[in-house]
Amino acid sequence: MHLLIPAAGSGKRMGVTGNKLLLEILGMPIISWTLKAAQKSVSIEWVGIIGQKCDFPRFENILLSIGFSKKWQLIEGGETRQESVYQGLKSLPNSAKLVLIHDGARCLATPSLFDQCSDSLLVYSALIAAIAVKDTIKIVDAERYIADTPNREQLWAAQTPQGFSVDLLKECHAKAIALGWEVTDDAALFERCQLPVKIIEGEETNLKITTPVDLAIAEYILAQRID
Ligand code: C5P
Repeated sequence: MHLLIPAAGSGKRMGVTGNKLLLEILGMPIISWTLKAAQKSVSIEWVGIIGQKCDFPRFENILLSIGFSKKWQLIEGGETRQESVYQGLKSLPNSAKLVLIHDGARCLATPSLFDQCSDSLLVYSALIAAIAVKDTIKIVDAERYIADTPNREQLWAAQTPQGFSVDLLKECHAKAIALGWEVTDDAALFERCQLPVKIIEGEETNLKITTPVDLAIAEYILAQRID
């Protein structure tokens, strides 16, 4: 399986300048934890790390320091996650027919979640890891009055990995560029193209490191896992 890791974002919501994925948890950059999980997954054979060019030397050092032994490639990202993923898709080797996309910022995803997604991608042409929402969710208008309360039974929080047929995902991205669609995950492009996307049970601990509190929670979870 080929894996693309979007890692070209910034640390705006984290309140840091530079790439938040270079912040450390338990003495290792966030992206190292993500890469270590990819390393342990039995299904992943090739990893494309999508970053800003200025971070490439750091990424190379990280790959070396964790002894990353799978095939890897650094790919220059874009202004948005969507652009970064498209850059990644264009850099995949021709042999890649299926691809998993996993945010570098989700450094708690387990190797077994990668493998479950890889296995399921042999059955479904598009899938995402997701978990059932626990909170009651409100749809809110511009003045912050509640406009609606959707039925919680139907609400799932999207995570990554997200997996797709490479050709179909490339087509969806090309259509998005042509029609000016802006989305925050790849499944949304499939939805807009009216293509089915299957939900795979994700992991409650698979949070996306976004704000400082996420760092503290991730540190706690990773410390429990170290033997
Ligand atoms: O900002 P956020 O954490 O939601 O971004 C999700 C993922 O997309 C992160 O791993 C981030 O590094 C990546 N990203 C990217 N290129 C961008 C913006 C975000 O690869 N231009």
